[in-house]
Amino acid sequence: MEEFESVAYARMTKMASDYFRSGAWDERTLRWNVEAWQAIRVFHRVMVDVSTRTTATTLMGSKCAFPFVVAPTALHKLACAEGELATARAASRRGVPLILSSLSSTGVEEVCRAAKHVDVWMQLYIGKERAHVLDLAARAQAAGCTALVLTVDTPVWGVRERDIQNGFCLPAGIEVVNLMRSDRQRDGQNAHERGIGHTGGGIAEALGWTIDASLSWKDLDWLVSKQTLPIMVKGICREDDALRAVDAGAKGVLVSNHGGRQLDGAPATAESLEAVANAVRDRACVIVDGGIRRGTDVLRALALGAHGASAGRPILWGLGVGGEEGVHRVLELLQNEFDLAMALAGCATLEEITADLLVG
Ligand code: FNR
Ligand code: LAC
Repeated sequence: MEEFESVAYARMTKMASDYFRSGAWDERTLRWNVEAWQAIRVFHRVMVDVSTRTTATTLMGSKCAFPFVVAPTALHKLACAEGELATARAASRRGVPLILSSLSSTGVEEVCRAAKHVDVWMQLYIGKERAHVLDLAARAQAAGCTALVLTVDTPVWGVRERDIQNGFCLPAGIEVVNLMRSDRQRDGQNAHERGIGHTGGGIAEALGWTIDASLSWKDLDWLVSKQTLPIMVKGICREDDALRAVDAGAKGVLVSNHGGRQLDGAPATAESLEAVANAVRDRACVIVDGGIRRGTDVLRALALGAHGASAGRPILWGLGVGGEEGVHRVLELLQNEFDLAMALAGCATLEEITADLLVG
């Protein structure tokens, strides 16, 4: 995976690679995310018959070849020309559900068609114009999405200093197409034509209009009341927030700090997962992302109580290196490593990946 990272970034423009790699401010949480998984020791069981193993599972009602979903990341066309279609085709071939970013550079309908054999979940941001969220949710449902993922850790955009230095903007020909309708309605022009993002404000300037600092629990109640699809809440690191989300009707919780891109200083997700999982895992689907780089990390996540794991940047690296084939290889590596890690830890089934593996 590390090779994918270096090769991918070497092939991209500086603006794209910096956008993908960045964390907020000093990038401490970004580093902690990776390090915290690596620090977890696994007390493997021996003398267990692991000759037949099963990694398949169901998350939020969607079939998964192993307990993994592709995390939503914006603007895949910055990584390769085919963009999200390449990601969707690879995920489909690997049997792994895909969470599509609302800031994707390909429309949800096209992505759902490309993801033939797997479910697509639609990620949502709640911007100032609440009605537009309902429009996108309805579009996603009509396109065939089976779940909604509401991201709640972005009342404002985290400060990624490289993006500011680079004057991050959307290059010509790349647009946040799912939101264009509302964007056009508002300003009569698309984002690029308006030239936003060029004055050195980074993502806060380029994409500030997509979120709203007044986001609160009232908005989750409102969204739940308007939807029939199951809703997962993404960006939680505390037990009380997880309980509140599930009490409000969320069917899933995604333990995440946005890949270290929002509050620098937030705990690594490997540190916040256990308390959240213990609080809600019997009532809701618990997934974790942030720093998952190997199948052994997926095993650790399940031992800490998650039902599944997810990753953002590794998918972008696969895209940057080899488009669909690159993403396919990244997913294959993660699944193969996870399967072998199960065997080496003495687990033939996912149910056998239990907390005692972490204490001996
Ligand atoms: C993200 N993430 C993200 N999350 C989200 O809900 N909507 C989005 O549009 C994006 N966009 C996005 C772009 C890029 C370039 C990155 C790196 C991340 C966060 C993403 O879903 C996930 O939480 C992190 O990527 C997980 O950390 P790792 O796997 O990248 O370490
Ligand atoms: C990001 C947004 C798009 O992290 O989620 O860049």
